[in-house]
Amino acid sequence: MSPKSRQILVTSALPYANGPIHIGHMLEYVQTDIWVRFQKLRGHDCIYVCADDAHGTPIMLRAQAEGVTPEELIERMHAEHLRDFTDFGVAFDNYYSTHSPENRYFAELIYTRLRDAGHIRTRVISQAYDPEAEMFLPDRFIKGDCPNCGAAGQYGDNCENCGATYSPTDLKNPVSVVSGVTPIEKDSEQYFFKLEDFESMLKEYFAAGHVQPEIANKMNEWLDEGLKDWDISRNAPYWGFEIPDAPGKYFYVWLDAPIGYMASFKHWCDRSGQDFDAYWSQDSSAELHHFIGKDIARFHTMFWPAMLHGAGFRKPSAVYCHGFLTVDGQKMSKSRGTFVMARTYLEHLNPEYLRYYFAAKLGPGIDDIDLNLEDFTSRVNADLVGKLVNIASRCAGFVNKRFGGRLAAALSSDELSRSIVATADRIAGFYEGREFGKAMRDVMALADRVNQYIDEKEPWVVVKDENRLAEVQDVCTIGLNAFRQLVILLKPVLPKLAAEAEAFLKVDALAWDDLGADLLDHEIDRFKPLMTRIEPVFIERMVEASKEDLAEEQKLQQPRGNASSDPIAPEIAYDDFARLDLRIARIVAAKKVDKSDKLLQLTLDLGGETRNVFAGIARAYRPEDLEGRLTVMVANLAPRKMRFGVSEGMVLCAGSGDSELYLLHPDSEAKPGMRVT
Ligand code: MSP
Ligand code: ZN
Repeated sequence: MSPKSRQILVTSALPYANGPIHIGHMLEYVQTDIWVRFQKLRGHDCIYVCADDAHGTPIMLRAQAEGVTPEELIERMHAEHLRDFTDFGVAFDNYYSTHSPENRYFAELIYTRLRDAGHIRTRVISQAYDPEAEMFLPDRFIKGDCPNCGAAGQYGDNCENCGATYSPTDLKNPVSVVSGVTPIEKDSEQYFFKLEDFESMLKEYFAAGHVQPEIANKMNEWLDEGLKDWDISRNAPYWGFEIPDAPGKYFYVWLDAPIGYMASFKHWCDRSGQDFDAYWSQDSSAELHHFIGKDIARFHTMFWPAMLHGAGFRKPSAVYCHGFLTVDGQKMSKSRGTFVMARTYLEHLNPEYLRYYFAAKLGPGIDDIDLNLEDFTSRVNADLVGKLVNIASRCAGFVNKRFGGRLAAALSSDELSRSIVATADRIAGFYEGREFGKAMRDVMALADRVNQYIDEKEPWVVVKDENRLAEVQDVCTIGLNAFRQLVILLKPVLPKLAAEAEAFLKVDALAWDDLGADLLDHEIDRFKPLMTRIEPVFIERMVEASKEDLAEEQKLQQPRGNASSDPIAPEIAYDDFARLDLRIARIVAAKKVDKSDKLLQLTLDLGGETRNVFAGIARAYRPEDLEGRLTVMVANLAPRKMRFGVSEGMVLCAGSGDSELYLLHPDSEAKPGMRVT
């Protein structure tokens, strides 16, 4: 039934190791995973690899802010990311890291080959430098006033207020985000990749349809403007691979990031005995597909093919860009609680709801995709619960109760089954072409037809007539076989539901080829609801929890200085200070908070009054070391409703990040309840 087996290597972009996975990311990993699962279901040899993108300045600075080594940070992030992906049903064949020996090997190999072929040259350039932190500053680490509209606190590359783009040297009153001082300009020698050497190759590449038309147009515009050299080096201190023949210079993170695809695949080959060269040599007949967001198109459709070509490797068969996720029509927002971490989502909702919703909205283009929370609720409830699962629950009860769980041995009609098989090729075509929305629409139209069939046959009426029981078994067997077919068609999107349906139907893992074979005279298991409805309150809770998460996360994304470089805040009046009611408190109990590695729950004695406070100090203190200690708290802070309960105040700590923290505590003669002035 399926065409000759293809060898397909698929990747998603490598997420940065400086922060958690959020539902915007998930759009990409779910899109890719659906495509991969579809190929596997069709019997193709399809390998899906990914990795953490573990290098670069933001990771170096975040590790500093947390008081850990970059190695420790990326190891923790790797584990967290992989857990998030796994729990969302994203099934990589390998999930690796760009900070790996394989990646160092390939980065050095590609660089050396490019250099030896004359595609690298050096030049002295002037860049922003932080004299206090003694480091060169990436654009994102310089803030100042927009040269266009004057808005304060804008990043060095573009203005969030008016949308202007500029270079950091244009900013008014620039300051380094790292230390707070004014950056200076400093000269240094850098290594450049001569992209212009690949102009004609790229023109042909775009013309040959390896990228979507919208992207090809954009890239051709850049080609017409003339290709500029690409700076592939960074000065120490930098977290990455040192350039072999240039001590003190490091590969820019974007040089070794896409090479991470090769490294992850190599790591997988070495463990599974597969042949790396069969996929990456210039004459490879295997396919290579990259799924990415449109923001990183230039790296993948210009720099990456040029690097591969220049170093004697094959180029990607296809680079597929998707648009960005918006929530309720707007950019994901921290204050509205729509910037939802993957983990937070998982704590409140079934991942397959979102997989289905994304599938229903995804097409082959680069338009943004909106997650409308109301539409999400009603679509999932109507389609998955109301249409799909409903078929099984309407039929299974009779089969379980009346026929000892046994399906009929022969059927009165195969019309329904044949109509589903007849649509399957078209649905396969939609999956192949990333037209998941169209595929979902077809599947749901089929589900409607099956429900209509059951409505017409009214087994709940017929079952009352003892002489017509065979009819009931017939209708329910037809219904359950149709359900089985729909599960096959949806299996790339709903792997967990499919596994549960397989257990319920007592069948081996279903493949696309099983569409035509009816289950007859076969015993099924008792029916358990395969999916329940989304209640609006689940969404509300997730949004609330997201508001809390982000406050924590934001502190870590912003590198903060130490005593010498963290500038003192603007002056306030004494009255401002006096509004704070600071009190001595004794920690009478401290315990870990379930599902949070940051928070401790403290019971504080204020001299007669007890307060419950959640404090983000779990990485710095063990609960048993805190009990009995005196500390200082803000006693008149408005209570905050958190996911775990209400926090009635705040304890005071010195330090930055969340592992280098020092709880304030007074001399032991101080008494709980005393006012701090
Ligand atoms: N590390 C680079 C990619 C290197 S690939 C050799 C990177 N990382 S990222 O974490 O910022 O993004 C990873 C992927 O998630 C990118 O393809 C990006 O486009 C995608 N998305 C990040 N936020 C997104 C949305 N809000 N919506 C859709 N996709 C999003 O870029
Ligand atoms: Zn502006």
